Amino acid sequence: MTRVPPAFAIKSATKARQVLLRAADRLVPSEIALLDHSVAFTRPHLLAAVVEFGIPDQLADGPKNAEQLAGASGADADSLHRVLRAAATFGFVRLDKAGRFHNTRLTRALRADARFQTAEWCRYTASASVQQAWGGLSETVKSGESAFGRVHGMGMFEWFEAHPAEGRAFSRGLAGLTLMEAPAIVAAYPFPDDGVICDVAGGTGALLGEVLNARPRVKAILVEAPSVLDEARSYLSDIGVSERVEFLPGDFMTRVEAVADLYILKWILHDWSDEICRRILAAVKATMKPGSRLLIVEGEQDLHQVSPRFGPLDVHMMTVCDGGRERSLGEFHALLDSVGLFAGDVVRTATGLLLVEGLASQRA
Ligand SMILES: C[S@@+](CC[C@H](N)C(=O)[O-])C[C@H]1O[C@@H](n2cnc3c(N)ncnc32)[C@H](O)[C@@H]1O
Repeated sequence: MTRVPPAFAIKSATKARQVLLRAADRLVPSEIALLDHSVAFTRPHLLAAVVEFGIPDQLADGPKNAEQLAGASGADADSLHRVLRAAATFGFVRLDKAGRFHNTRLTRALRADARFQTAEWCRYTASASVQQAWGGLSETVKSGESAFGRVHGMGMFEWFEAHPAEGRAFSRGLAGLTLMEAPAIVAAYPFPDDGVICDVAGGTGALLGEVLNARPRVKAILVEAPSVLDEARSYLSDIGVSERVEFLPGDFMTRVEAVADLYILKWILHDWSDEICRRILAAVKATMKPGSRLLIVEGEQDLHQVSPRFGPLDVHMMTVCDGGRERSLGEFHALLDSVGLFAGDVVRTATGLLLVEGLASQRA
């Protein structure tokens, strides 16, 4: 099992980074600091260009200039040089005095074979569909409606079905984020040693894989859209646990037909409005037997608390999802209560995720 650093170490490093970023703003006049923030929109695009032209892998064997890099990736050398020079401002690559680019610690995390697939996440955040949705933020704030649906005429998950390359970048990038969180989730929550665990909309199986590795007698059901299940089958087979998994195509808006002792909903409720969350929770509750549990895994955003991680994510959810939002513990408990599930234990992971149990029957 992957070792998880203690919560205080993760919290202190995160806090120190925030303090340093704020301190950097204080070193210059406010206008200069704001100017810098106003052009931060360049960063996701620079990252996406580094990924698209395969720079991290091209530089793996040593430094190269833009002409060498452009030759191998079909780019215009002058444009590529200027993009990479700008990317060097943020440490995405390094430029030396001879005009050669080098990998940095950040570039290496963008290699195609990097475990957490951060390159795919960068492709997703810079994709035109996401950027166009963010472009209409004022309209979203005025109307309170998702920008994604307004701009693209369909919800994000429908869009992914119609644009499989974007869907793949999203599900792979997200699987990487889940893989980073999974050891802390497994360390924080007492997953059972036996029985069946059902991950409802569990993506490509990143969390289930970690749980099944840690609990060799447990069996699992993964409920997902058929296109995502293909990726999940291949990932879980690669890590040697697929024989213990039933892959079940399903739609959590209607019925979840899986009998399990523990159900997981990770990063699902934050995609949806309270009304849709109640539908999803009701569909899970309908299949739960007395004594079974539901584990909600989410970020935590209290109404008056500034959260560097979940505040911006909350606005992303507002922008790209239909009623999506980050919620507080009280809001999760109210949702559970509204469908007749009982509040169980609450745990926070070392990485700051909130684990909220819902119980099918009240504890004796
Ligand atoms: C934000 S992702 C979370 C994935 C995974 N639980 C994780 O945390 O890595 C949401 C997932 O919901 C799935 N999904 C969306 N609509 C669905 C539906 N109606 N029924 C089942 N799954 C759905 C998507 O395919 C996607 O994998």
